[in-house]
Amino acid sequence: MSEPTTSPAARFTLDSAFDVGSVNPRLYGSFVEHMGRCVYTGIYEPGHPAADADGLRQDVLELVRELGVTTVRYPGGNFVSGYRWEDSVGPREERPTRLDLAWKSTETNEFGLGEFMEFCGKTGMEPMMAVNLGTRGVEDAVRLLEYANHPGGTELSDRRIAHGGKEPYGIRMWCLGNEMDGPWQTGHKTPEEYGRLAAETARAMRQVDPGLELVACGSSSSSMPTFASWESTVLQETYDLVDYVSLHAYYEEIDGDRDSFLASAVDMEHFIESVVATCDHVRARLKADKRINLSFDEWNVWYQQRPNPHAVEEWQQAPRILEDVYTVTDAVVFGSLLIALLRHADRVTSASLAQLVNVIAPIMTEPGGAAWRQTTFYPFAQASAYGRGRVLRVEVDSPTYTTARFGEVPLLHATAVIDDETGDITVFTVNRSQTDALPLRVDLRGVDAHTVVEHLVLADGDPEAVNTADRPDRVTPRPATGTAVTDGVLHAELEPLSWNMIRLTNRPA
Ligand code: AHR
Repeated sequence: MSEPTTSPAARFTLDSAFDVGSVNPRLYGSFVEHMGRCVYTGIYEPGHPAADADGLRQDVLELVRELGVTTVRYPGGNFVSGYRWEDSVGPREERPTRLDLAWKSTETNEFGLGEFMEFCGKTGMEPMMAVNLGTRGVEDAVRLLEYANHPGGTELSDRRIAHGGKEPYGIRMWCLGNEMDGPWQTGHKTPEEYGRLAAETARAMRQVDPGLELVACGSSSSSMPTFASWESTVLQETYDLVDYVSLHAYYEEIDGDRDSFLASAVDMEHFIESVVATCDHVRARLKADKRINLSFDEWNVWYQQRPNPHAVEEWQQAPRILEDVYTVTDAVVFGSLLIALLRHADRVTSASLAQLVNVIAPIMTEPGGAAWRQTTFYPFAQASAYGRGRVLRVEVDSPTYTTARFGEVPLLHATAVIDDETGDITVFTVNRSQTDALPLRVDLRGVDAHTVVEHLVLADGDPEAVNTADRPDRVTPRPATGTAVTDGVLHAELEPLSWNMIRLTNRPA
């Protein structure tokens, strides 16, 4: 392999007065769907040596905690559009096995709502529940809400108590269906049909509890033919009744065009800005004061165009689907997607990495075997640990490269977060160059954090390197050398194709 060469420097200036917005901890959410092996043999596997009395895998729970996940969306995804919540509660032996049309699977309901709440309790994650607006509607959503959140004294809330849920679950965030714009969705709808149903469901749910936070379905991707007009129509119906509109986006390298893949966050930022503009257009049209925020509740790298080596032909429980193995390159793109979310923290106030375990996930498991961290685990864990506080505006002056999909793109993608209590700053950066190291110069004139605490880098001589059950620690972050502050300027060298976290403090080393 040839030695990397070096580009001209990329630069930006940090000033604590130039503020994007505070990071809502819900930005570090994830997603558990009844799909593939996310639940069964992922988080739940009675009989596994690491399983607790509830069948939850302790090894996985530990990794979930280490990952720093704040919220978890459940139970789908496409699965929710055929979900019958009442099948998933009560004595296990009485729960029915059903066909899950979304993923050609059988669903035993062995793991249900109560088990999910146990999982949330044990990991400290906030639940974010989706209701079925595909095959069901207003009545079912309200009944589920009553079962979950009403203190007691009604048939449904007393049923929860009888099932062991003495205290109400207190679920605050609710998604009004999933990807209802997608023709693949069971019960797919036009924007007019969905807008009316979402509004009526939201109105009824708010009659039960006005304090809920509700998410209306936006587009399943910005490439949907109805994108933007869908959001506009749906919000016209629901504006006063919901708090968020959802966004979903998945990225992959197509036809070997790695340069464009590395610039995926250009698309993500454009998507976010387009949805913000659409929300604010409806706000103007309705002469409303309130702003709608964004719930980016499915995002990740996902190789949708690759054939599934375990193609699902027969109905089976927990088939191996979407078990993408992430490379170093994928982790760099993934980190860049996190940077894109942070750079819009003023409006993206909730997000869910899709998904959490085994299915396009940062955590992998083998049935009866080990659990390990994928390459993408690390950017997420670092961002969740240190990307808390206020995002500072970063205007990058960077050398660029040419991409087929996005034209000229800066080699540097960056954001910075200040912890207002300590004044500490964390800079997250990606060098998109496949060949050249990128010198970084950050003028710290407007901040009081001039000591480097650490610079961790995720990069590798082999951009295809992955972690596996046999070599779970093949790829891990490592300290970078030579990063220092001189005369108020941070100097660092970003390796080719790298994700970087640089932490600065004002406290003496
Ligand atoms: O996350 C996998 C699937 O992707 C979800 O079920 C669906 O909402 C999306 O299309």
